[in-house]
Amino acid sequence: MRLVLWLLHGLVMRVAFALHLEARLDAVRRILHEAPLVDGHNDLPWNIRKFLKNQLRDFHFSEDLRGMSPWSRSSWSHTDLPRLREGMVAAQFWSAYVPCSAQHLDAVQLVLEQIDVIRRLVDKYPSHMTLVTTAQGIEEAHEAGLLASLIGVEGGHALGSSLGVLRMLHQLGARYLTLTHTCNTPWADCSIADEPGRLPNLGGLSHFGTLVVREMNRLGMIVDLSHVSVPTMLDTLRISRAPVIFSHSSAHALCNSSRNVPDHVLKLLAVNGGLMMVAFFPHFISCSESATLRDVAAHINHIRTVAGVDHVGLGAGYDGINITPLGLEDVSRYPHLLAELLGSGRWTEADLQKLAGRNLIRVFRDVERVRDRLREAGEPPVDERIPAEDVYGRTYCRFPET
Ligand SMILES: *[C@@H]1O[C@H](CO)[C@@H](O)[C@H](O)[C@H]1NC(C)=O
Repeated sequence: MRLVLWLLHGLVMRVAFALHLEARLDAVRRILHEAPLVDGHNDLPWNIRKFLKNQLRDFHFSEDLRGMSPWSRSSWSHTDLPRLREGMVAAQFWSAYVPCSAQHLDAVQLVLEQIDVIRRLVDKYPSHMTLVTTAQGIEEAHEAGLLASLIGVEGGHALGSSLGVLRMLHQLGARYLTLTHTCNTPWADCSIADEPGRLPNLGGLSHFGTLVVREMNRLGMIVDLSHVSVPTMLDTLRISRAPVIFSHSSAHALCNSSRNVPDHVLKLLAVNGGLMMVAFFPHFISCSESATLRDVAAHINHIRTVAGVDHVGLGAGYDGINITPLGLEDVSRYPHLLAELLGSGRWTEADLQKLAGRNLIRVFRDVERVRDRLREAGEPPVDERIPAEDVYGRTYCRFPET
């Protein structure tokens, strides 16, 4: 009898919890109906290259890819249109990623091909997706029920140390550039320089690196500081005339990966008006192979505590990671994360709208305003070239890809 009662009690509790969760998910769905959910980083375009050599005729984005080879067999695949819809994702920065092995070789060609594949993907699904290059475009796509598709270039080595290439990437629709990936560029140090036993190459940005940031401010292109070293973060925060983002990083205070952002930088980021978009990769969340949705919520709460609710967002990094937190297995799961925060009592609906996307839209608008102001002031394009000795005169360590 006692056993039966105990079992019954367990069942009732579970049903009550599920109802509670269902009510919170309903509230989250209402919130995301009003405010767009914007994710800062998704590596699907690289997987399309890896698996399909960018041949989109073989790519069936409107189907559940979990049932389709080669995606069903890959631990790197977390994204398709049905699951994006389930996850209520309104806007996605698609990564035009270029591996560091291409630096000084064919990096510029690769970035062009990755922008091409993103643009062709959007064109192939006009009733689902639309290419967006402005803050207002995100809101308009949300109202129209289309997935706003933005382009972020991952890795400053994709510029070939040329501001002409930077300007043309902007023309092609790229709206952020991650200053480095896992290699130093001739003008900026990457986060590996911060790891124990490593030495910096420049100790931040070179003079040319500051020109890259200045030119991005002039163009209205968002500076992304994920992957860079702490001195590169500090140099950029000192000189950037516009807010910056971290498109996919987490809190160093909770996990000391060099890919994460220390509290003192988070405070400067708040002064800059910028945004930290939280990555879900367990190695950045728990510094191990296993993490949970709650652990990700803890990073979000920490960043809110240190930088403020106006400076935290989402940049999961799906399709660029091969392990995911329990409860955040793919792009369908964002509402569960927001429901967890809502249940904690600390987050109002307005707070969750900021986290989901309003913060990113604000930052993007501010970047556009700085561009307009500089245009009105007549600031000319940066005409300087990188000194040849900066490109060829140093020896570079090539770091292993991860
Ligand atoms: C993180 O902290 C541990 C323990 O203090 C230390 O051994 C490790 O080197 C640190 N990792 C990094 C990347 O700083």
